[in-house]
Amino acid sequence: MLHRVKVLVGVSGGIAAYKVVDLVSKLVRERAEVKVIMTKNACEFITPLTFSSLSKNPVYLNDFSKDGIIPHLALARWADIFVIAPATANIIGKCANGIGDDLLSTTFLAYNGPTIFVPSMNSKMYERSTTQKNLSILKSMGCTILEPDIGRLASGEVGIGRYPDNEVILNEIMRIVVYKSLLFGKRILVTAGPTREFIDPVRFITNRSSGKMGYEMAKAAYMMGGDVKLITGVTQLPISLKGIERRHVATAKEMLNAVREEIEGIDMLIMAAAVADYRPKEIKSQKIKKDEEQLILTLERTEDILKELKERKRDTQTFIGFAAETEEHIENARKKVVEKGLDYIVLNDVSKEDIGFESDENEVLLLDRRGEIIAHIPRKQKVQVAKEILEIVLERG
Ligand code: CTP
Repeated sequence: MLHRVKVLVGVSGGIAAYKVVDLVSKLVRERAEVKVIMTKNACEFITPLTFSSLSKNPVYLNDFSKDGIIPHLALARWADIFVIAPATANIIGKCANGIGDDLLSTTFLAYNGPTIFVPSMNSKMYERSTTQKNLSILKSMGCTILEPDIGRLASGEVGIGRYPDNEVILNEIMRIVVYKSLLFGKRILVTAGPTREFIDPVRFITNRSSGKMGYEMAKAAYMMGGDVKLITGVTQLPISLKGIERRHVATAKEMLNAVREEIEGIDMLIMAAAVADYRPKEIKSQKIKKDEEQLILTLERTEDILKELKERKRDTQTFIGFAAETEEHIENARKKVVEKGLDYIVLNDVSKEDIGFESDENEVLLLDRRGEIIAHIPRKQKVQVAKEILEIVLERG
């Protein structure tokens, strides 16, 4: 996702400096170009060699170059995004007040692109009024400040000030440099994952959906600036994005009720959930014993959520559905887009083992409300497929 993006990482002298090693490694894995500046104090915690080995670039320690290049100006010109992590109270104070007395602070002075600060320090230092004032100055300058986590600190105390998960920082970098704010101010409702239809207190019927595609759709919508709510069936997926409100449901009926409650005022509905079509007609209140040679379950139809919503859909709302097909793919998707009153349907061929269910990759066709194929998104990571689906839909208005 970060191919050719130039990320300048400024490491200041906090105990969390060692965690930035993993951030740099993640950035390199996303194919970003990474250069690292370290302050003198950061070098007390970790050696420059670690960063130069990972980034395959020299690490910049001071402003005194012998080959005529002025490092702080060259680095400021080079960077697409500047991430200062961990950001100590000291570097925050210097950056907020125009002090340039080392390479990191002078580069910040010379740079005017997107900047993320990752404050990480003892809670008393973080909560100190001067630190808070300096952070609000940086915010007013347009910098992004990632709120530290609450938890156990290096001192053994518990409080605010912990370095956040590197996934959160990575997502923030992507949000700023990769995703355009196409959904800014829009309210998006996403459903994801399988439903469970209970047979008795310990057994249920479900399907192979992992929820990945729906979660990636939610993430992409959030990254594009949307106000996103996710209604999810039971999945094993972590979600590393703060800012997406999640509501958990189990059955198709619960999902329908949740969608009904949340649909008011929504601009876009993305129905990526694999909703069960049938449920046991009767749910036994006690565990079924294996007394019989054969057990016959009678199933009844669940509610079709999209069909239930069809009448209430407003013209200003965009509904996107997913079609999971194993045969006559396009014909079936065309039928669904009309019957379910959708604006778009994303067609998945779930008979292919290497894409779709449980996989990190997908290949889809996108059809419009008339059943016309408007895009073929070839096999790629689900996160990229999700982004492209939204970009195409938004481009078409
Ligand atoms: N869907 C729904 N309510 C259901 C079943 C499905 O709203 N009870 C939605 C899905 O979230 C998806 C779309 O309808 O966006 C198509 O789902 P899919 O499982 O492909 O089709 P079904 O309608 O279940 O039809 P079939 O199983 O016969 O293919």
